[in-house]
Amino acid sequence: MKTITAWLTGACLSAGTLTAQTTQVFTVKANQLKTPVQKTMWGIFFEDINFGADGGIYAELVKNRSFEFATPLMGWKEQKQNNANGSILIINRGEQVPNPRFARFTVRSASGYGISNEGFRGMGITANNQYDLSLLARVPEGNVQLRIELVNAANEKIGETSLTLSGKDWKKYTASITAKATEAKAKLNIWFEGTGVVDADMISLFPKNTWKNRPGGLRADLVQLLADMKPGFLRFPGGCIVEGKELTNRYQWKKTVGAINEREVIVNRWNTEFRHKLTPDYYQSFGLGFYEYFLLSEDIGAEPLPILNCGMACQFNTAEVVPTEELDPYIQDALDLIEFANGPADSKWGKLRAQMGHPAPFNLKLMGVGNEQWGEQYIERYKLFAKAIKEKYPAVQLVSSVGPNPDGPLFDYLNPTLRGLKADLLDEHYYRSPDWFLKNAKRYDDYDRNGPKIFAGEYASHSKGVGNSENINNWQSALSEAAFMTGLERNADVVHMASYAPLFAHAEGWQWTPDLIWFNSLQAYGTPNYYVQKLYSLNKGTHVVPMTLNNEIAAGQNGLYANACIDSVAKEVIIKIVNTGATPQTSEVAIEGVKKLAANATAEVLKNGDLQQANTFAQPAGISPQQETIKLKGKKVPVTLAPYSFQVIKVKML
Ligand code: AHR
Repeated sequence: MKTITAWLTGACLSAGTLTAQTTQVFTVKANQLKTPVQKTMWGIFFEDINFGADGGIYAELVKNRSFEFATPLMGWKEQKQNNANGSILIINRGEQVPNPRFARFTVRSASGYGISNEGFRGMGITANNQYDLSLLARVPEGNVQLRIELVNAANEKIGETSLTLSGKDWKKYTASITAKATEAKAKLNIWFEGTGVVDADMISLFPKNTWKNRPGGLRADLVQLLADMKPGFLRFPGGCIVEGKELTNRYQWKKTVGAINEREVIVNRWNTEFRHKLTPDYYQSFGLGFYEYFLLSEDIGAEPLPILNCGMACQFNTAEVVPTEELDPYIQDALDLIEFANGPADSKWGKLRAQMGHPAPFNLKLMGVGNEQWGEQYIERYKLFAKAIKEKYPAVQLVSSVGPNPDGPLFDYLNPTLRGLKADLLDEHYYRSPDWFLKNAKRYDDYDRNGPKIFAGEYASHSKGVGNSENINNWQSALSEAAFMTGLERNADVVHMASYAPLFAHAEGWQWTPDLIWFNSLQAYGTPNYYVQKLYSLNKGTHVVPMTLNNEIAAGQNGLYANACIDSVAKEVIIKIVNTGATPQTSEVAIEGVKKLAANATAEVLKNGDLQQANTFAQPAGISPQQETIKLKGKKVPVTLAPYSFQVIKVKML
């Protein structure tokens, strides 16, 4: 493991060779448009890892609501006050239905018998907010009513409601609770009153104030953090979750659309992936399914980018493949997904989209074939997918995998092979050290300008090493990403899309670190890495223009990295400068090729003197952008480059 000193000396001059008086002279040629910046340039990678969906953005508070986990009562606990008499039987309707199990409660005491649900590491409940309960139930025998409570960690009641059940047929029942107190570790208690038999399924509790107040919707605070980034695209649903450990638990989009209670629950592949972070209670309810992903993309103005299984399970796990002669159903899934997203409301799959509430098309333009696949087996399958999709939908751009690494034998085979096949977009992944990110800031400067475009589909700087559970989202990692991203942006003619990965992590339910946004049952915060992504995304401009440091591309000299764009609509010059050095530097940015500039520039500055610093629940914005104003000297912008800083400077062109 490299020390911080090694990181710094690897990429910038040692502090001794710098003097604080040396002025670094940058030049920006604002009238020489090198290349447009794609609207999709900075986007979001979403995967249900770290409780990102169930237990995360999907606002359901009840864990294992339909008793489909391998251990059917996981998350539930029988309650017996004063030795109350009752019992639970899990009944399986058979394999032909997607949600086969339900719970039968036989209630023999008139009161004191019940069941409680612990939520996803506790339920986050906020005072005065409304919580909407629903369940499917029937009463085969007797007369049993429900008393429903929210209780805090000390088992004190913080909200209550009741439900009258009747009849031997399944019905949906709903009730609401307004919470009297805020609690991070609340539980839901359901007490049976009267005696008899009650069957129950899909026991669900949602906050009323979800994103856009959609019933059964998404956590508003988490979606807001995404919307604030104004992302160019949303990649979903992963990630390795697309592949599954085995083909049987691959992601199948058709099983994630339609009625919620008809979506088959399966184990989440991250459930037991890492010994250091076992989460045996991690399943996929698919309440956040493909329709909801498309809706989320639309809500936040992002191009949807679904990644589909291409007949291959995760090659880090079983590496199972479907024989190529049996690949048709997989390819058909891809074709049907395009119809689901874009087809008319009277087409088979377009009709389902319309019935779900969205008659207008989602205008899908991008699709990924496989996640992080490699080898000849991938190329064989990719070719079959590409042929079928391009024949029917030539306008859809396909993302193809160049494997899990940005170099090495797997990459060296896939990269030229896919270029030979005239692939549209190559999905490069790099989870690497901060040092790697600094040294690779010029990675794309020499890429073929005429070949496939690059989608930097998953990347993150790992200060302790990939898979190390001690990686944190410290300032060192974020700063190295900011430096590297100057190179992505400078090469926007080649790099059309980029996304940090993974996106979300539950503070008590994560498996993989670092992650862009951390949350618990009540709070969420953006990491320094989040603010780096956001600053790039909100300040991408329309065109890259040349920017040099003493006549060279700024990619590490004196620890400095920089790039410039203009926004031809807002009429602004946008300059990004990263100082990875431990000492302050003075600099001047001379802007050429403009008639006149505003008297002042604005700067948004991310900085911290301690590379190990990270944001926390207690200090969620510890490292976050600070606004500054810079007085111009004619067409020169004098900029102080604080140690370990990243800044975005904007100057109006008059
Ligand atoms: O982002 C976490 C994982 O890293 C993704 O699921 C996979 O694509 C990559 O290996």
